[in-house]
Amino acid sequence: MMSRFIARVGLLVLPVIALLTAGCSEADLKVRQSTFDAKGPVARMQYDIFMDSVYLVTVLFAIVGGLLVYAVIRFRARPGDENKPAIVEDGHGNPVTEILLIVASIGALVFLAIPTLKGIWYQDDVPEDRVPAGRLSVWYPRVEGGVENYAEAVKDQVLEIDVVGKQWWFRFEYPQFGLTNDGRRSVPNELVIPKGVPVRINLRSEDVIHSFWIPKVAGKVDLMPGRRNRMWIQADETGHYYGQCAEFCGDSHAYMLFRCEVLEPADFARWVRAQKQDAPEPPAGSKAAEGKALFAAKTCAMCHNVSGHFGAGAFGPDLTHVASRKSLAGAWLDNRNPEAQRAAEAAAGGNTEASAPVDRAVQKANLIRWIGSSGVLHAEAAEPTRDVKPGNRMHYYKMFNVAGLNETKTKLTPSELDALAEYLLTLK
Ligand code: CUA
Repeated sequence: MMSRFIARVGLLVLPVIALLTAGCSEADLKVRQSTFDAKGPVARMQYDIFMDSVYLVTVLFAIVGGLLVYAVIRFRARPGDENKPAIVEDGHGNPVTEILLIVASIGALVFLAIPTLKGIWYQDDVPEDRVPAGRLSVWYPRVEGGVENYAEAVKDQVLEIDVVGKQWWFRFEYPQFGLTNDGRRSVPNELVIPKGVPVRINLRSEDVIHSFWIPKVAGKVDLMPGRRNRMWIQADETGHYYGQCAEFCGDSHAYMLFRCEVLEPADFARWVRAQKQDAPEPPAGSKAAEGKALFAAKTCAMCHNVSGHFGAGAFGPDLTHVASRKSLAGAWLDNRNPEAQRAAEAAAGGNTEASAPVDRAVQKANLIRWIGSSGVLHAEAAEPTRDVKPGNRMHYYKMFNVAGLNETKTKLTPSELDALAEYLLTLK
């Protein structure tokens, strides 16, 4: 009777345990947002604290669970118990046991608190021993001067990046290189950093509370309105990492992603230089030129900056280099060909940080899908679908309530949508 019951429970519990532990398999250690695959000193520190607490809790679980199982078996009902009194008389406990339990609990808390507090301080700013004094000033001129010098100059240096949270995307600014939103040079949704270099991250928000998190590299610290938070990150391997807003911030919180590209220092310097270029002029009479005119006529330029073409937009993501990015729509849509991406990962031994290049056809389809769904109405569509990111803030005319700016003016025919996409594709 008893053994049949145990067998039934076992049949029920075992598959559940198998399902729950499937996520722990070795094959999944390289999943995109795993904190178990630390790729930098801050993430490693956090991983160590996590494991410390796992060890401690495992020991506590074994002791408490063991005593419970012992008590259940030792004091279980036996034949003849019915003659005993139903309620056992209360005892007064054992003072020595109670004091030992209190001391052990405090000990366990201290055991957890010491590494946790150390970790909080460690994460706050780049440790002194990682910043050789007086060398920060060589940064900017070297980058201007030459990529080769830069690789040497950037060694062991602190890079400073401002991160701004918005509903529902991240804006990255590199003040040391003049890449700021005020200077119409910010970088949305793709955080590019050099390998092996400590990066000081300054965090703030322009609306609600968000949280900055790259599970494999570091996290998570909140971006708060009216407050500046700070942390530092460093990635020890080049690759394509996945970041995520980790604080509920409204409709599209779950879609508020970003990517972190870790490049060799010399490649990073090339990237900085490319970001400082103005957009090229599309050839006269081309589809892209038509798209550029639409970008102004359909009011896109009111919110989006394109350096060299339009300079008024400071509210939405900067689009000067939109076509150079591997993702779109707050990093939710991937601009890489899925087949090519799988091949790139397979070639790197299953490493999901390996990345295929941007695929123009995929990118164009993404642009059309994103713009078309996000509130800019197709001429024949009654309502925007908003199926890419619910509640997104593109097409803001209702909020701004600007005279003369209405649905008719921002409607796009399929042919206009195509031209707009062709224009954006020239913004490399
Ligand atoms: Cu931003 Cu959640």
